[in-house]
Amino acid sequence: MLGAEVGHKSAHRIERRIRNSGLVERKTLEAFDWDFQPTLDKDFILELARLDFVRRHDDVIITGKPGTGKSHILKACGLSACEQRIALRYARCVDLLDDLHVGLADGTYPSRLRAWVRPALLIIDDVGLGQVRKRGDEPTAAHTLYNLIDRRHGHSSTAITSNIDLSHWGRYLGDAVVTAAILDRLAMHAIRIDVDGPSYRQRVAADRATKRKKSKEPTETPEPEQP
Ligand SMILES: Nc1ncnc2c1ncn2[C@@H]1O[C@H](COP(=O)(O)OP(=O)(O)O)[C@@H](O)[C@H]1O
Ligand SMILES: [Mg+2]
Repeated sequence: MLGAEVGHKSAHRIERRIRNSGLVERKTLEAFDWDFQPTLDKDFILELARLDFVRRHDDVIITGKPGTGKSHILKACGLSACEQRIALRYARCVDLLDDLHVGLADGTYPSRLRAWVRPALLIIDDVGLGQVRKRGDEPTAAHTLYNLIDRRHGHSSTAITSNIDLSHWGRYLGDAVVTAAILDRLAMHAIRIDVDGPSYRQRVAADRATKRKKSKEPTETPEPEQP
């Protein structure tokens, strides 16, 4: 095979991997404004994106207020995983739970659970955002998540972002005792990053408002000359 053809096939494979992973937005760390978030250790995050933690089967938890770049960092890690041929699945926490709960209702739970257990890297985005639904006698979100984390723990990496403190997960997931068991597996050994800084979303909104204001301001036009 010619070099160009090999390159083309490999790019095609990476593209398919990204599409199948559930990663919709393609974020990179090259596009990250480090000066905006000075509490973040740039070298540490760049090292994280090299994904040695996946090879070590370590977990990652990134906490912090909304808009601080938590999802951006993990999405960039996800993209890097696809490029490195590491099997990835990405989902927001509520979507993952919904998927498993659909499986409980229609008998496809075992195969759905296997699909979430299998990938070398699973990114669970936004724990704490969105309504975790509980219907009838279904297990709580805490139970569902526990089943998944327990199967993955020690065999594969799970990387999580959360906008709420870990001490509030119990209330969010609907069972404090089971959540403690999740955190016992995850948080005790996970790489922990807390982003304590401003929201990039608010900055973008402020920039837009400034631009709008400027465009509305009357531009200085010279007085028409008197005939
Ligand atoms: N430091 C940054 N540099 C560039 N873009 C950023 C930065 N922080 C956040 N963003 C962008 O701002 C938006 C919100 O960031 P996100 O990572 O989703 O925040 P979080 O997950 O912490 O709520 C995204 O579009 C993201 O790409
Ligand atoms: Mg987020």
